Amino acid sequence: MRYTKAPLPFQGQKRRWVNELEEIAKALPSGSIVVDLFGGSGLCAHVVKNARPDLSVIWNDYDDYQARLNQIGDINDVADELRDVLARFPRNGKIPAGTDEHNRVLEILRRAKSQGLDMGTIVSWVTFSANNKTDVCESAALYNNLVMDRYSADGYLCGVERVSASFEEVLRELPNEAVLIVDPPYLSTDASRYGQRGEGVYWGIVEHLRLLSKVGQHRYIYFHSSKSEVSALDAELQALFVVSYLGEHRTIGKDVSTGSNTAGYTDYLTTNIGVSRGE
Ligand SMILES: C[S@@+](CC[C@H](N)C(=O)[O-])C[C@H]1O[C@@H](n2cnc3c(N)ncnc32)[C@H](O)[C@@H]1O
Repeated sequence: MRYTKAPLPFQGQKRRWVNELEEIAKALPSGSIVVDLFGGSGLCAHVVKNARPDLSVIWNDYDDYQARLNQIGDINDVADELRDVLARFPRNGKIPAGTDEHNRVLEILRRAKSQGLDMGTIVSWVTFSANNKTDVCESAALYNNLVMDRYSADGYLCGVERVSASFEEVLRELPNEAVLIVDPPYLSTDASRYGQRGEGVYWGIVEHLRLLSKVGQHRYIYFHSSKSEVSALDAELQALFVVSYLGEHRTIGKDVSTGSNTAGYTDYLTTNIGVSRGE
């Protein structure tokens, strides 16, 4: 089965790049090992394995997204319960504080939390929060944003090998022949927002440089954006120290608009596959 988005919400998943990733995967030589180094939701690993079932694909599940996938049955049960409670509210309709339904929603959320369920997903059904909130204020108005379909991850990462470690540990174990999918956090972000690694996981220029210095030894598919200045950094290193970590490569860009009042940015896929030593 072909998924074009992750089974459960995941901020930063590469759903806009599924077609390009499939094309690149199809061109890889048989016997390739593909490693999704910053695996997140596993969408990239899924896309490659689905396009090329013959290849070995490794998913680095640094955030333990697998734990969320394992909860899908329970999460669907919570959604069913909420759907019953909110039956009289239209989609996006407001559930005012103090109403019977509001109290029942809070009760269901409290129970889900005590069961250790994926509150980022569940809270998003009754708020307009895009911030991965895992709690709601008792007096806040809620909204009926429930998804209509039941979640399913059937066959999603079938045949994909899962590891869970920092990218540097994973890289140490890999042969140079391994093909890397590289999709790190944006520069200067608190990476703990992605999952279960806790506070203080920061993605800064040092991590960025360490990564950049390693990728060029491999064939790679590198996702980045105009916000993270990967190409600019590589060009600057080349100018200053006559070293290009990215080597010969090609880049595809896609503009992202962020609303009428803010400047958009560009997402990039850079790869050395199909370029010079890339085959
Ligand atoms: C932009 S997301 C990747 C999204 C993924 N490609 C997808 O389609 O869902 C970046 C991921 O890198 C993870 N990460 C942060 N620091 C890491 C590290 N030191 N080693 C490995 N992964 C890390 C984050 O937790 C997050 O899951």
